[in-house]
Amino acid sequence: MTKSGDRKVMKVLAGETVFPPPVWLMRQAGRYLPEYRATRAQANGFLDLCYTPDLAVEVTLQPIRRFGLDAAILFSDILVIPDALKRNVRFVEGTGPLMDPISVEQIGALDPSGLHDHMAPVYETVHRLRAELPEETTLLGFCGAPWTVATYMIAGHGTPEQAPARLFAMEHPDAFAALLDLLATMSADYLIAQIDAGADAVQIFDSWAGVLSERDFAKFSIAPMRKIVDRIRAERPGVPVIGFAKGAGALLENYREATGVDCVGLDWTVPSKLARQIQAGGAVQGNLDPLRMVAGGKALDEGIDEVLETLGNGPLIFNLGHGITPQADPENVTRLMNRIRSAAKP
Ligand code: CP3
Repeated sequence: MTKSGDRKVMKVLAGETVFPPPVWLMRQAGRYLPEYRATRAQANGFLDLCYTPDLAVEVTLQPIRRFGLDAAILFSDILVIPDALKRNVRFVEGTGPLMDPISVEQIGALDPSGLHDHMAPVYETVHRLRAELPEETTLLGFCGAPWTVATYMIAGHGTPEQAPARLFAMEHPDAFAALLDLLATMSADYLIAQIDAGADAVQIFDSWAGVLSERDFAKFSIAPMRKIVDRIRAERPGVPVIGFAKGAGALLENYREATGVDCVGLDWTVPSKLARQIQAGGAVQGNLDPLRMVAGGKALDEGIDEVLETLGNGPLIFNLGHGITPQADPENVTRLMNRIRSAAKP
C-alpha cells in the first residue's frame, strides 16, 4: 500500500534530496497531447474546459496516465481570476487570451465578492482529482502572481515586454498598487480554497517577472508574493508554496528569503552557480529548456544530463524552465522519464 507519505514531490518541498528526482512538466496537460485535443473539442471553448469538472479532471489525469509523472497540476488557467472579476476574458484560437483593458476608474469598482461562487467548479475539480489520483502523486493547485495577472488585465492581451502595464504603473501608481493588492488578496483566498479542496501544494506563476527593474521587482513581484505566502503560512501552515518568477535572473538570488516560498522555480537561463546557491537554501524546480522537448534525441539527453549534473545533488523537482509547447513530441516525454529514472547519481 502506498501512502501520502510517499509523495516524492512533497519530500523535496520539505527540503529532502530525492534521487532520481521527482518529475512534472509545466503545461503537461495541453495541445501536444492528442487526447487533450480530443477532450478540448468536446468543450464549448477553453474556459468551459476549465469550469467543467468532468472535462478538467480528465485532461489533468491524461499526462499522469500516459507518463506516470510525480505531480498533477490542476487544469485551469491564471486568467480565471480576471474572469471572476468580469473582465470579459476569452481565448481566441490562434490569438491567445483577450479581455477588456482596465481603466483607473474600473480598478476602483472591481468587486471580488463573487470569487468562491465563480470558482466552485474548480474546487470540485480539485476535490475529485485528489480522490482519483494515485496516492503517491502530488496534486498541485496554482494561480498567477498579481504582477503577471495585472499585465493581462491592463493590456487586455499578452504583450512582449509588458509595456502597457509598466507604463500604467508609472502613470497611475496608486491605482496600480490597489490592483496588485486586490489580486494578492483574491489569489490567497483562491489558493487557500484549493488547499481545502485537496491540493497538496501550490505554485504561483510570475511568468512576466523578467521585464521589471530591481526596484519594481521588489514592489510588484516580491511584495505581493510575500503577502500571498504569509496568508497561506498563517491560515494553512505546512502547505508548501512554489514561486516561479520567470526571467528574473540575478534577482532570484534572494527570492526564497524575500518571498518566503519553499521552492524556487528556475528557468533555463539561470546560471548554474546561482542555481546551486539558491538550492543551498532549499528546494528548486526546473529548468530544462522546453525546446529540447521539441528537438528530442541528443539535444534532449544532453539537456537532461546537464540539469541532473548541476542540481541532482540537492533538493530538486525536475521540470522544464517554462511550459511544454504544442510542437513537443509526446514520445520525448517518455524518453525524458526513462532517462531521469535510470540516471546514476551525479
Ligand atoms: O498543465 C498545466 O500546466 C495546467 C494548466 C495551465 C494552463 N495555463 C492551461 C492552458 C497552467 C498552469 C496555465 C498557466 C498560465 N496561463 C500562465 C503561466 C505559465 C506560463 O505559461 O507562463 C499564463 C501566462 C497563462 C495565460 C495563458 N493561457 C496564455 C498566454 C494562453 C495562450 C497561449 C497558449 O499556450 O495557447 C493560455 C491558454 C492555455 N492555458 C492553454 C492551456 C492548455 C492552451 C489553450 C487551448 O487549449 O486552446
